[in-house]
Amino acid sequence: MTDTPGTPADREPALADDQRAHWQRTYQAHPGMYGEQPSTPARYAAEAFAAAGAREVLELGAGHGRDALHLARAGFTVLAADFSPTGLEQLRATAVEQGLADRIRTIVHDVREPLPLPDASVDAVFAHMLLCMALSTGEIEALVAEVRRVLRPGGTFVYTVRHTEDAHYGAGTGHGDDIWEHGGFAVHFFPRELVDRLTEGWHLVDVHPFEEGELPRRLWRITQETPR
Ligand SMILES: C[S@@+](CC[C@H](N)C(=O)[O-])C[C@H]1O[C@@H](n2cnc3c(N)ncnc32)[C@H](O)[C@@H]1O
Repeated sequence: MTDTPGTPADREPALADDQRAHWQRTYQAHPGMYGEQPSTPARYAAEAFAAAGAREVLELGAGHGRDALHLARAGFTVLAADFSPTGLEQLRATAVEQGLADRIRTIVHDVREPLPLPDASVDAVFAHMLLCMALSTGEIEALVAEVRRVLRPGGTFVYTVRHTEDAHYGAGTGHGDDIWEHGGFAVHFFPRELVDRLTEGWHLVDVHPFEEGELPRRLWRITQETPR
């Protein structure tokens, strides 16, 4: 492990490109690596989205689809996006096996680019451990503005991020902008001020701390809604 301050990620576009290749290799080497069970935030999101009367859900950073499949089983129509075609191929294969193919569409999309959807076209957006990938603060702010654009009025956004109290914050190779690379994976550890800034113009429902995995990863689950 080395501690190097690094260059701000705003000036380091190659980092996210390297990460894309890294995720491709990871899903190829470990198909279905997150398992078949939905994450705890996805179970919560399915209930929150149903309570809000949502029908069409966009999932960002869906990977091989443990959560997209859960949302489809819960009755939602799901558009699952990720920049790894390999993860999404695994998702589609499982959707066919489970008879869910008519409820899930996949799209290869890098969230550093604008979302390829019309304004006010989805009821809910879910993103588990996507905003805390190798994205600069500016890219995260632009992404949340895009999420707001594609959500209908009163739409719900549930996302999770690792934060600055996580054991891996400050470990490994520093890339600036609170991004640290450890074991080949780059993570943007969120300070609380960033979460608060991303609620501007939204109604914040809650910020819920939780842990996942063996490290454990320390995360926040944020729920916020667009104005009606
Ligand atoms: C930590 S994994 C979580 C996967 C999934 N949400 C889950 O919990 O099973 C992060 C996912 O985000 C995707 N990802 C990372 N950076 C991305 C980007 N810039 N655009 C789109 N997807 C990205 C990766 O390919 C990976 O599937």
